[in-house]
Amino acid sequence: MLNVIIFGPPGSGKGTQGIKIAEKYGLAHVSTGDLLRKEIETNTHFGTIVKGFIDRGELVPDATIIGILDSFLDKLPVGKGIIFDGFPRTVDQAKSLSEMMSTHKTEISILVDLNVDKQELVDRICKRGETSGRTDDKPETVTKRLEVYENQTKPAVEYYKQRNLYTAINGNGTVDDIFARLCEAIDTVK
Ligand code: AP5
Ligand code: MG
Repeated sequence: MLNVIIFGPPGSGKGTQGIKIAEKYGLAHVSTGDLLRKEIETNTHFGTIVKGFIDRGELVPDATIIGILDSFLDKLPVGKGIIFDGFPRTVDQAKSLSEMMSTHKTEISILVDLNVDKQELVDRICKRGETSGRTDDKPETVTKRLEVYENQTKPAVEYYKQRNLYTAINGNGTVDDIFARLCEAIDTVK
């Protein structure tokens, strides 16, 4: 199995590249942000709980998101592997993911970390915000999301560095150039 984590700050291209990687390597693409937005769109009880966190640019509590991902993985048919987009986002989520993988008799193969200049991140998200309808694409919420990333999410890379699973990728440039860099890294572990 090939299990990839695509990591990086808001706007770094996790979704854009995650879809392409899933297609090329035949992986299931799991975006926790997309799972949460689906809950909100369909007005589930759970959606009403998480909406406030997303609108404020804060993380949904660990126990909640771990529970959602766990039940999603339980229902996922066995395939060639998974690309995780937007998860883990804290050290505790990283630890839980390792446990979930071992329950499913598999493990994380690699974490690819998209490094993108800060101004480029802000520009990309604000541009998308003009049409996306995403409540967290407003400039003030983008600033908050970037802060949350620095303080709560970035520390999780240490967990993967210690296990020799970490690869930094230059996430600036065209979608195709970045995709080629990602594939080069993934090909070393597949
Ligand atoms: P989530 O949906 O994961 O959002 P995010 O990580 O904040 O970032 P984005 O999805 O906006 O960016 P991306 O890196 O996917 O980039 P994209 O490809 O879209 O999370 C949303 C919220 O849900 C969180 O704030 C939190 O509240 C909650 N949540 C989710 N997971 C959670 C978890 N595990 N724990 C707790 N809470 C959680 O690209 C961005 C834009 O740039 C697009 O318009 C794209 O077309 C464009 N673009 C992409 N690549 C390029 C390029 N090379 N050049 C120019 N433009 C580009
Ligand atoms: Mg995304």
